[in-house]
Amino acid sequence: MKANAATLDSLVAQSQPLTTNKHLIRWVEKMAELCKPDAIHWVDGSHTEYEMLCQRLIEAGTFVKLNEEKWPGCFYARSVPSDVARVEDRTFICSYARDGAGPTNNWEDPYVMRRRLKQLFRGAMQGRIMYVLPFSMGPVGSPMARIGVQLTDSPYVVANMRTMARIGKAVFEEIDKDVQRVVPCMHSVGMPLKPGEKDVPWPCNDTKYIVHFPESREIWSYGSGYGGNALLSKKCFALRIASNIARDEGWMAEHMLILGVESPEGEKTYVAAAFPSACGKTNFAMLIPPKAMKGWKVWTVGDDIAWIKPDANGHLRAINPEAGFFGVAPGTSVKTNPSAMATLSRNTIFTNVALTPDGGVWWEGMTDEPPAECVDWRGEHWTPEIGKETGRTAAHPNGRFTAPASQCPSIDPDWESPEGVPISAFIFGGRRSSTLPLVYQTFNWSSGVYAGATMGSETTAAATGVVGKVRRDPMAMLPFCGYHMGDYFRHWIKMQRELDVTPRIFHVNWFRKDSNGKFLWPGFGENLRVLRWIVERVHGHGRGRETPIGWVPRYEDIDWTGLDFSREAFDELMQVDRAAWRKEVMAHEELFIDIHDHLPSEMIYERELLICRM
Ligand code: GTP
Ligand code: SPV
Ligand code: MN
Repeated sequence: MKANAATLDSLVAQSQPLTTNKHLIRWVEKMAELCKPDAIHWVDGSHTEYEMLCQRLIEAGTFVKLNEEKWPGCFYARSVPSDVARVEDRTFICSYARDGAGPTNNWEDPYVMRRRLKQLFRGAMQGRIMYVLPFSMGPVGSPMARIGVQLTDSPYVVANMRTMARIGKAVFEEIDKDVQRVVPCMHSVGMPLKPGEKDVPWPCNDTKYIVHFPESREIWSYGSGYGGNALLSKKCFALRIASNIARDEGWMAEHMLILGVESPEGEKTYVAAAFPSACGKTNFAMLIPPKAMKGWKVWTVGDDIAWIKPDANGHLRAINPEAGFFGVAPGTSVKTNPSAMATLSRNTIFTNVALTPDGGVWWEGMTDEPPAECVDWRGEHWTPEIGKETGRTAAHPNGRFTAPASQCPSIDPDWESPEGVPISAFIFGGRRSSTLPLVYQTFNWSSGVYAGATMGSETTAAATGVVGKVRRDPMAMLPFCGYHMGDYFRHWIKMQRELDVTPRIFHVNWFRKDSNGKFLWPGFGENLRVLRWIVERVHGHGRGRETPIGWVPRYEDIDWTGLDFSREAFDELMQVDRAAWRKEVMAHEELFIDIHDHLPSEMIYERELLICRM
């Protein structure tokens, strides 16, 4: 192997395997033979290594170092316009049988797909370094943690993964204990370099494949360098592959935030909430209570993914398998989410937001006043006037920050507890401008599973495609469930049998609008008022009223201290309109027809009951 750049010298020092695991070494060699990288770099996760990677990324034009005084330890990156979000239509679950993936996933015969991938990866890393990146999902050594190794030709991915997961030497040491199977994750941006060919700041390929082999627990990702397409620990491993492992082993891998609510009396209650992509998980997980609600506090455990397992006492316990936040930047401000702003104030990588002349970053909603000028996410000169004329935003709507969870001011003292935190309630919620009330509590576990299974949400910029269309997104897992959706519902139903304490299940909607298209609910910190009612219901002392869909708070059951919110506005927000709900139930049918042959009978009975109550 030839090292072709001077900067490689320091890297070659890490061409020696950092593991004694023969299978891993053999696999790395085999993949190197296939992909033909110029060099192999075993990632130790050290600070020196990180600095060198960043230096290399700056030289390649991928990273811009931000103003060290204002944004210490921060970097700025810009992708190309064709690589800005998850590509759901290029995402595949290649189970042996088509039925294993089910109708909500793209499927291809695993043999056919393997052949295609081999072709794509052949020589794909020429002119590049292949990084061997070991990562632990969950605190290293936690009984709930799982290990993967990603081979990637993207130093940008390595830099991001260092924040998003526990990586490096400590993970190799875990691997060397040889107690668990490692999930192999292959990744290439799909842009080999010919000898002497100059690299581009954001290499990628128009051909994209995000592929999962659930039986052999393998991931292959080709052609993209962005987010969930490329940081394979996240959606590919911690949700699509982990949901398969979880089903086999009797636990759950969910697209959920985890938070702890502390009452003025010091009682702490943990809840997990599933909202679809860009529908408020990060914001809810870092909620700052309204000033007037003295003594209440919300603690953050995780903002995107939860691994949940029954403990010896029959209680569900959850860990956040990640170590960082890959959060939506636009809309994040000191007003809406001060904890996120504090978290991202240092040691953060920003992607696809705007770069200001003083070496800082900006995005829509960060401040009331936009900067007089900046360079937008496309790399073009942007002023508020240009924005108005062209309709172009300075930041891409899916522009994101990669920030360490440990920097979050509201991070829970137990966020890295190896056995996880006890979960008392699940909350489902979508982005719905009509029909769905602010909050309701489902009657029991199976009606709660029904509410989650039939959840709808308006699509967002987190995935490529149309934005704003209502689609069924069961448990916020439509793009992330690695097997048949009907079997996934069955698994949810089954989980309850393992429990002595069944979490209560709620549904919320922060996004209902009035006839003028204005949000009816102020949201953000004010969501604590809803959370307070939820916690009181969990502990059996919250009051409410029964409706056809479940239990709801009356106006007087909500704490309104410090908020001027009228009974009329509340009634509009909480309205359960029977005509609209009849249409809603019809829409539930859409998904159920597709998966009818795997649908648990509980879902059919719950639907009938709901129709009868209407
Ligand atoms: P992923 O990282 O894609 O899984 O998204 P997420 O669920 O963590 O979404 P996030 O919290 O980043 O929210 C995304 C968008 O929702 C931002 O534009 C927020 O401003 C908006 N949002 C969050 N909470 C609220 C709320 O309570 N009310 C309203 N109206 N908007 C909200
Ligand atoms: C999501 O889309 O739900 C995300 C961002 O959390 S990504 O990691 O790109 O999937
Ligand atoms: Mn997400």
